[in-house]
Amino acid sequence: MTDQSSNQMWGGRFAAGPDAIMEAINASIGFDQRMAAQDIAGSRAHAAMLAATGVITDSDARAIREGLLTVLSEIQNGEFQFSTALEDIHMNVEARLKEVIGEPAGRLHTGRSRNDQVATDFKLWVRDQLDAAETGLLALIRALLAQAEAGADWVMPGFTHLQTAQPVTWGHHMMAYVEMFGRDLSRVRDARARMNESPLGAAALAGTSFPIDRQMTAEALGFDRPAANSLDAVSDRDFALEFLSTASICAVHLSRFAEELVIWSSAQFRFVTLSDRFSTGSSIMPQKKNPDAAELIRAKVGRIYGANTALMMVMKGLPLAYSKDMQEDKEQVFDAADNWMLALAAMEGMVKDMTANRDSLAVAAGSGFSTATDLADWLVRVLGLPFRDAHHVTGSLVAKAEGKDCDLPDLTLDDMKSVHADITKDVYSVLGVENSVNSRQSYGGTAPDQVRAQIERWKALV
Ligand code: ARG
Repeated sequence: MTDQSSNQMWGGRFAAGPDAIMEAINASIGFDQRMAAQDIAGSRAHAAMLAATGVITDSDARAIREGLLTVLSEIQNGEFQFSTALEDIHMNVEARLKEVIGEPAGRLHTGRSRNDQVATDFKLWVRDQLDAAETGLLALIRALLAQAEAGADWVMPGFTHLQTAQPVTWGHHMMAYVEMFGRDLSRVRDARARMNESPLGAAALAGTSFPIDRQMTAEALGFDRPAANSLDAVSDRDFALEFLSTASICAVHLSRFAEELVIWSSAQFRFVTLSDRFSTGSSIMPQKKNPDAAELIRAKVGRIYGANTALMMVMKGLPLAYSKDMQEDKEQVFDAADNWMLALAAMEGMVKDMTANRDSLAVAAGSGFSTATDLADWLVRVLGLPFRDAHHVTGSLVAKAEGKDCDLPDLTLDDMKSVHADITKDVYSVLGVENSVNSRQSYGGTAPDQVRAQIERWKALV
């Protein structure tokens, strides 16, 4: 249905209202109502500042600030009637404020525009999400540290190309993810520090002739300072892009870990047992226990990175300052944020609840000729062979073991000597998996002492 009355907020020069299709494509209230609390906080700070600078009277500011609290509680109680004709959260709130307090409501929009208003609201919303991501990452890191501490010296196979490479420890593998999520945490903190400048008071694009105090509103809203260029302040969406790219990188990390959990929880691996609380059953196969949470976390990167790509494309080529294209920013960020927080929480829950199967890990650690590098290193260290020759000799020993269908420590000394006559029984000391990991004492290596040192370092940080 076409609304023939012109818009009550900006319709002064319009004879007719928008076509229904125009209204449908233009409105953002369907989603930007999620920023109601931020919008009202921004408006209350703005009103207080307008009074402090003498632009409006104290009694008008008081009426506006109190009326806005009434509107907020109506929204929070689900009593608020959102109107598509009023386009967005900003105009919905202001129109309702007019109904609640009358004439003073019309003074609220002095010295500002929806352009700085939306940038402010959205920044406040994204900032809250960065804080939530920080909390989620810290909880996940602590869950990983607990796993690492419990199994700092439990041996397991380390892989390259998903082929057995060298033995590592469970604690070492968990701590690899602590490093990854730790970098995500530092990206979250960096992004928050960089984005924390207030757009409010940039007005439409050029600033305002009213004697406003941008420092005051910035402080009231917890920003470090006002943004220094009004054109940039209203057209900047870097904070949303940085949020999405930070989320995307973290989602990649979550996805990699999720993939490992899917593999590790399979009957073929049995490295971990996921709790019932974080698994599901099959409606047809009674024996099944599926790692659905891990699979969904693995998939989330698709939509999160999709949001990042979408907003990059929206912002690409936009001239300064505000363009309506930028209204397309919110749904992407909302969806990515919801799914990022959910994935972090689900991963934390899974990690907290899962059991590493020490025995299966140990059996797997010793198979696949995992100590072949230790053998080659022994040939270098004890017999003085050049590494290339030692590599070749070891390769022949692996082939011999493969032929006998046994592991390296099962070869007899005669088998060994048939490949290189100088090998002594001392070689067996390095073929054990425990010795292998204990010998990796280089900084950051897999030796339990090194792993424990890193656990302690992280425990002091988080
Ligand atoms: N709903 C709009 C958005 O999200 C608010 C800003 C509108 N500004 C304007 N000049 N039409 O971007």
